[in-house]
Amino acid sequence: MSQAEYIEKNKQRFLDELFDLLRIPSISADSAFKSDVRKTAEFVAEKLKSAGADKVELCETAGYPIVYGEKMINPALPTVLVYGHYDVQPSAPDHLWLSPAFEPEIRKTEIHPEGAIFARGACDDKGQMYMHVKAFETMMATNTLACNVKFMIEGEEEVGSGNLGPFCIANKERLKADMVLISDTSMIANDCPSIDVGLRGLSYIEVEVTGPKIDLHSGVYGGAVANPINILAKMIASMHDENNHITIPGFYDKVVELSAAERAELNKAPFDLEAFKKDLDIADVWGEKGYTTLERTGIRPTLDVNGIWGGYTGEGSKTVLPSKAFAKISMRLVPNQGSDEITALFQKHFENIAPAGVKVLVKPHHGGEPVVTPTDSKEYLAGARAMERTFGKKPIPTRGGGSIPIVALFKKELGLSSVLFGFGLDSDALHSPNENFGVVNYFNGIKTIPVFFEEYGK
Ligand code: BES
Ligand code: MN
Ligand code: MN
Repeated sequence: MSQAEYIEKNKQRFLDELFDLLRIPSISADSAFKSDVRKTAEFVAEKLKSAGADKVELCETAGYPIVYGEKMINPALPTVLVYGHYDVQPSAPDHLWLSPAFEPEIRKTEIHPEGAIFARGACDDKGQMYMHVKAFETMMATNTLACNVKFMIEGEEEVGSGNLGPFCIANKERLKADMVLISDTSMIANDCPSIDVGLRGLSYIEVEVTGPKIDLHSGVYGGAVANPINILAKMIASMHDENNHITIPGFYDKVVELSAAERAELNKAPFDLEAFKKDLDIADVWGEKGYTTLERTGIRPTLDVNGIWGGYTGEGSKTVLPSKAFAKISMRLVPNQGSDEITALFQKHFENIAPAGVKVLVKPHHGGEPVVTPTDSKEYLAGARAMERTFGKKPIPTRGGGSIPIVALFKKELGLSSVLFGFGLDSDALHSPNENFGVVNYFNGIKTIPVFFEEYGK
């Protein structure tokens, strides 16, 4: 039986199994879901085993387990290390989901006329990770596995992969491979294949601003005491200038500026600004002066507030001058910014600009380094040929705006380059309500991954 026949014959089961996987709420950020996250690891391990992987194991860490499995068929063949994650982002705000986040459902959409699977994790990354499990099953069942393969599927990507780095360093021998294959990014469109060749890094910080030691009557004290929410808002606003440049001293010092030719190349990728605005229901885009939207997300660093709170937010009104204000702030980084260095620059600046009427506390969360992958490597070219065989077009190399912190570490600690072999779309609502993944995209991935193995094994 050919791979295509095997996939066709098992189509419904491949969907049913993904649905079962999507039903387990593996939210790594929320400890209320602890047992579900573990259950998800067990599910993945069991499916790897039944697909034919050897040495399948839940590798315990200080956090959630890493699922490992391998199939070594011939030492003369190259070894592909497949990385993915089984954890997902929280589903909130739940009331905005048209169907519950952990009750997957297929619905047709404008972008996915043949149907998309709606569920948290459908695309990021359960759907894309599971394509690899089913592609592996297909290669095993049709006796066509063309490379050795190792799987490393983690459960803490959405919280910064804090335990995966130490695991990689402690397991260098076991993880020996020739490259890493990852499906956790997007392509431009279903009729326009692309491969991400860059990811941004990340510095994530929480700040706390304290004014008076207790909440005060805003009439009795208002006007005479620093209001920490007013101050925090002002401090945040001051971190961008009128051109939307970030004002933290030294922030841009190490940023690699692209040449005019490189920028022109990047801007050749199809991008419809009107469609982009319409899709997001915004009247205009916003960002750093002098750069296009593709450049703003692909090659430029950012600073954004992810959440801000403090004071009275209950029903009705309460006249109060709050004691404290909080915010979660992230910075996306580009080569050659380092996350520790940028976090330190932020901390120093934030403390410097705080007026004497407040105290500030800066709490660094996780970080990750930016990466750029080559487009002339053996592994990139194998990926490009595989995409071309599925889509009938050469993929366009693109710079993705998101972060996968562990990718830089794969290079640094294991010496391995990654191919970001994504099949989702930016419009699939990752991390948002109504996350979805095209059924066609899921099967395109399952079909194309074996072609990658064939091309890379040549
Ligand atoms: N899969 C995403 C990253 C991504 C999405 C890259 C689309 C390129 C295109 C990943 O799961 C993710 O969301 N990463 C986090 C970082 C993490 C430290 C929380 C991110 O980018 O916010
Ligand atoms: Mn992901
Ligand atoms: Mn994610």
